[in-house]
Amino acid sequence: MKVLVTGANGQLGTDLCKAIRDFELIPLTDKDIEISDMSSVKQAFSKHKPDIIINTAAFVRVDDCEDEKDKAFSVNALGARNVAVVAQELGARLVHLSTDYVFGGEHEPTSEFVGEGLVPSRNPRPYTEFDTPVPLSIYGKSKLAGENLVRHFCLRHFIVRTSGLFGVAGSMGKGGNFIETMLSLAEERDELRVVNDQVFSPTYTRDLAGKIVQLMTTDYYGIFHITNRGVCSWYGFTKEILKLTGIKTPVIPITSDQYPQKACRPRYSVLDNSHLRLLGMDDMRPWQEALKDYLIARGHIKQERDR
Ligand SMILES: NC(=O)c1ccc[n+]([C@@H]2O[C@H](COP(=O)([O-])OP(=O)(O)OC[C@H]3O[C@@H](n4cnc5c(N)ncnc54)[C@H](OP(=O)(O)O)[C@@H]3O)[C@@H](O)[C@H]2O)c1
Repeated sequence: MKVLVTGANGQLGTDLCKAIRDFELIPLTDKDIEISDMSSVKQAFSKHKPDIIINTAAFVRVDDCEDEKDKAFSVNALGARNVAVVAQELGARLVHLSTDYVFGGEHEPTSEFVGEGLVPSRNPRPYTEFDTPVPLSIYGKSKLAGENLVRHFCLRHFIVRTSGLFGVAGSMGKGGNFIETMLSLAEERDELRVVNDQVFSPTYTRDLAGKIVQLMTTDYYGIFHITNRGVCSWYGFTKEILKLTGIKTPVIPITSDQYPQKACRPRYSVLDNSHLRLLGMDDMRPWQEALKDYLIARGHIKQERDR
């Protein structure tokens, strides 16, 4: 069986290529294919005739999407359409990556800062695959349009929504990842001020890649939420990063209003892996364990010796 991966040198693409061991792998980077160009997609796919296509390629810089709307829709919506149309023509299955930012945070708890972190005063409800997306940003809107086009044009599809990715390769589009940014800022600054009112589930690309490989040969088509278990804010995530690496720089919780960004982000975008759970396939581990493995893999901390 041949598996073709777009965005193969990206953060998730890199781990997918490592996880695809039992199949013939066709890794395509942006040098091999331009997904927003139908003829490029036709040429690349028909040359290799894959059985499964995993489309990770996307315009992922959330704030830049606000300024570059045409590019956002061209890549994230029409690019997804092109991939779906050609996948269907070739009779291939399609795994298409999407995002928690298709949701708008209306499940958000009213919250207050208490001591160390965010304490919801009501029970928030994570988004299931059966909830209706309401994106707030151009990035979210363009990714949702891409999902809809994939559903329309490719019958055997898996739409995989995930959130807060971190991977050893770092995001190509973003030039690194949040963890590496926080670790270098913690060395430079006396304190870190980090947003505490955007709540999500950080997800290790190695864990996500493993689950996608498990899923892609099944017939369980449809939408899947796949994240590591547990939730935190960016502030909580930073606290854990510094705790695990033994860095003492103080971290101050702030609100999104105190850290204005071009794109509006959901205050609460926790995804419930309900489809996986209903299939008995949700064994995603807690994000703290995944983070620890990431820090070991990047050489930031040492592996604990076996006792
Ligand atoms: N990062 C996150 O926190 C996050 C969260 C939720 C969902 N996602 C989704 O997960 C997927 C993977 O994200 P990631 O973090 O692995 O991103 P990434 O590291 O930026 O990888 C994306 C790859 O796609 C390539 N690419 C971009 N535009 C392309 C185009 N028009 N044609 C062909 N290739 C193109 C990029 O190459 P160049 O950079 O060289 O152009 C890059 O190698 C994306 O679909 C994203 O929307 C990401």
